[in-house]
Amino acid sequence: MRELSEEALARLSSVGTAFVGYPRFNSLLREIEICHRESAFTHEPISMLITGESGVGKTTLIKQYAKQHPRQEEAERSRIPVMVTSVPVPADIRGLAAQMLRALGAHLVETGSAAYRTERLIQMIAACGVELIFLDEFQHLVERATPNKIRAVSDWVKTLINETGTPIVLLGMPSAASLVQENDQLPRRFRFKRSFEPFHWHYDREEFRLTIDRLDQALPFELPSALGGAALLPRIFLACRGRFGFLNNLLYEAARHAISDASARIEVHHLSRAYDLVLVADAPNAANPFDLSEGRVESWLEQLMATTTKETKC
Ligand SMILES: Nc1ncnc2c1ncn2[C@@H]1O[C@H](COP(=O)(O)OP(=O)(O)O)[C@@H](O)[C@H]1O
Ligand SMILES: [Mg+2]
Repeated sequence: MRELSEEALARLSSVGTAFVGYPRFNSLLREIEICHRESAFTHEPISMLITGESGVGKTTLIKQYAKQHPRQEEAERSRIPVMVTSVPVPADIRGLAAQMLRALGAHLVETGSAAYRTERLIQMIAACGVELIFLDEFQHLVERATPNKIRAVSDWVKTLINETGTPIVLLGMPSAASLVQENDQLPRRFRFKRSFEPFHWHYDREEFRLTIDRLDQALPFELPSALGGAALLPRIFLACRGRFGFLNNLLYEAARHAISDASARIEVHHLSRAYDLVLVADAPNAANPFDLSEGRVESWLEQLMATTTKETKC
């Protein structure tokens, strides 16, 4: 493949950063907004738990929400209305408290006990005017943890919510749900418990198609690539299995090849190549959906749907 020019790289970067606010994504954003805005006039802050497999778009939700509520530099302080932290590995309360202090711009965060750090954190949350806390990758705190440890972490979360009066949005893999379930008092505080599922071919097909159409419109090519058409849509679905992360990788790689070929749009052979280069290693079988007949695509979809259930609709 030819080395890309500056202009080609600029086109490609627009593929990597394209964003689509599709209905299920937007409805999660609206519920986050409820936690943020309405916690001020409820007795207890309204918190939220969002679980989903890797690549469904959890971190993107945080980024989108945080972008709408940026930090502000005031004369005496940095005001941080929306605070974002990712749970570090290895995970424990001391480490998490340090990470959260760091996110608020504190220095010397690695000193002191868990209790000392927590006290400092509570003070800083108030001082920075934090109104909403995102904790991403929360599963790190509960994975491989004993019931006692999970209990300790969930008590810590409860204390943080109580002492600061600030709602928390926890995001993580489905294993993170045990944190809320295993504490008698957390389920009430986590009013919204949502499972963020990949697109489902039966239930979300129209939403998937519209999302793909919008991505197609945003592509930096002369002509539309008809990604949402009857020939490509099921193949793209099979390639990414409904997950945005895989979809992004597929389109980015296909766009790179199309740009390099000076093509007016992405063609099926660009998608096929991209699949072999970046997705096949994670795929459940070696077949490339872009090289298969319509009949084989249909039967693959049927097989896939027979093994996938839609657990909770967002
Ligand atoms: N609504 C969206 N629009 C465009 N790209 C998205 C969207 N949601 C997710 N992505 C892309 O999919 C990839 C995986 O998303 P991410 O939020 O990191 O998933 P998770 O945190 O659930 O593992 C990222 O590269 C992200 O840019
Ligand atoms: Mg993530």
